[in-house]
Amino acid sequence: MNQIGIIGCGTMGQGIAQVAATASCPVLIYDLNPDALELGRQNIVRVLDRLVEKGKLENRHKSSILANIQYVNTFHALQPCDLVIEAIVEDAAVKDQVIKQLEPWLKKDCIFASNTSSLSITLLAASCKIPARFLGIHFFNPAPLMKLVEIIPGIQTRTSLVEEVETIIQSWGKHTVLAKDTPGFIVNKVARPFYGEALRIYDEGIADVATIDWAMKEIGGFRMGPFELMDYIGNDVNYAVTETIYKSFYHDPRYRPSFTQKRLAEAGYLGRKTGRGYYQYGSNVDAPVPVKDMDQGKLIVERIVAMLINEAADTLYYNIASIEDIDLAMTKGVNYPKGLFAWADEIGITRCVHAIDLLYDRYHEARYRCSPLLRKMAQSNHNFYPQKIDA
Ligand SMILES: NC(=O)c1ccc[n+]([C@@H]2O[C@H](COP(=O)([O-])OP(=O)(O)OC[C@H]3O[C@@H](n4cnc5c(N)ncnc54)[C@H](O)[C@@H]3O)[C@@H](O)[C@H]2O)c1
Repeated sequence: MNQIGIIGCGTMGQGIAQVAATASCPVLIYDLNPDALELGRQNIVRVLDRLVEKGKLENRHKSSILANIQYVNTFHALQPCDLVIEAIVEDAAVKDQVIKQLEPWLKKDCIFASNTSSLSITLLAASCKIPARFLGIHFFNPAPLMKLVEIIPGIQTRTSLVEEVETIIQSWGKHTVLAKDTPGFIVNKVARPFYGEALRIYDEGIADVATIDWAMKEIGGFRMGPFELMDYIGNDVNYAVTETIYKSFYHDPRYRPSFTQKRLAEAGYLGRKTGRGYYQYGSNVDAPVPVKDMDQGKLIVERIVAMLINEAADTLYYNIASIEDIDLAMTKGVNYPKGLFAWADEIGITRCVHAIDLLYDRYHEARYRCSPLLRKMAQSNHNFYPQKIDA
């Protein structure tokens, strides 16, 4: 029964507080802004009320979850915490300031974490007096529903801390994966081609938005098409993540953002939240009709999936995460129909390499360079997982 502290009562802070309180942990949630604290409290009550209405939560349990959460407006109040998770604005300077001001109030053995999506954990740990106690605990939005949590030690993090934190987060009903402190960690890095390659296919005029989404859902088995998903996430948010990763990887062309998405963000066509993105939303709007050509659809899926597998292979090659954790991250974090390595084995590594080499031959762009790991595996006829032998 750990005393948990959450800094920032916004979208993520509220979600993480709900998760920890549901797992019977007492939670202290802090925000600089009293209105944010009150709004957060009302939101948590509303979410739990809805769960009760749907019969997914007992009234009794709702009351105990709510009783587990206390809203505080001083760092002093966080003194009893065993684990503090920072979930304030994604701004390195603000996080640096808050870490420096808060840390002196924490117990010497309190674990200190950030929920940052894109900042270096090592950089944030460097703001601490005791950097060995600091690491990344990256929840996905909405935190109560998304089963995946990425755990990211900085280079200063004490080795044994990872296991301690995994135990806590798993006891909250989450799957944890371990990631090296690299831009985008696992999910936000490996998923880039899902959006980027779909945009490239669209930008070249090979297929329209509705056709690409149709192919990825009907043939690829993804729950949402790339354009539907970008509209759902918000084109401003999705574009900003892509641009951050592109810059963080020193302008590697693999991650280059698309002008199409930039223009949508500039126009305020952010997706569902503004009623217009790649699609238009509303009751009087006819959905665009996809061209259901199976041959073309298969080519679209093969191209995007090959690029996803290539990204996953490079993530493994650079020791950012293990095979199992990358597959778990993509199936639990973004609901991919299969782990990308399991999928690569199914397609055949040689065929994946061939698909990427064909793109390279066509464009001669470094964006389409095949991962050295994938090529080596194809040459030595290896798979990612041991093959089942039929009885
Ligand atoms: N929203 C997502 O989809 C998502 C997903 C995963 C991780 N994250 C990360 O979680 C963090 C929070 O994101 P969010 O979407 O919840 O943001 P948000 O804007 O919804 O909430 C941020 C909260 O922090 C508070 N705050 C700002 N400055 C503060 C300060 N100096 N001291 C205390 N509180 C302060 C604000 O009042 C606000 O309530 C970011 O680091 C973000 O990258 C976000």
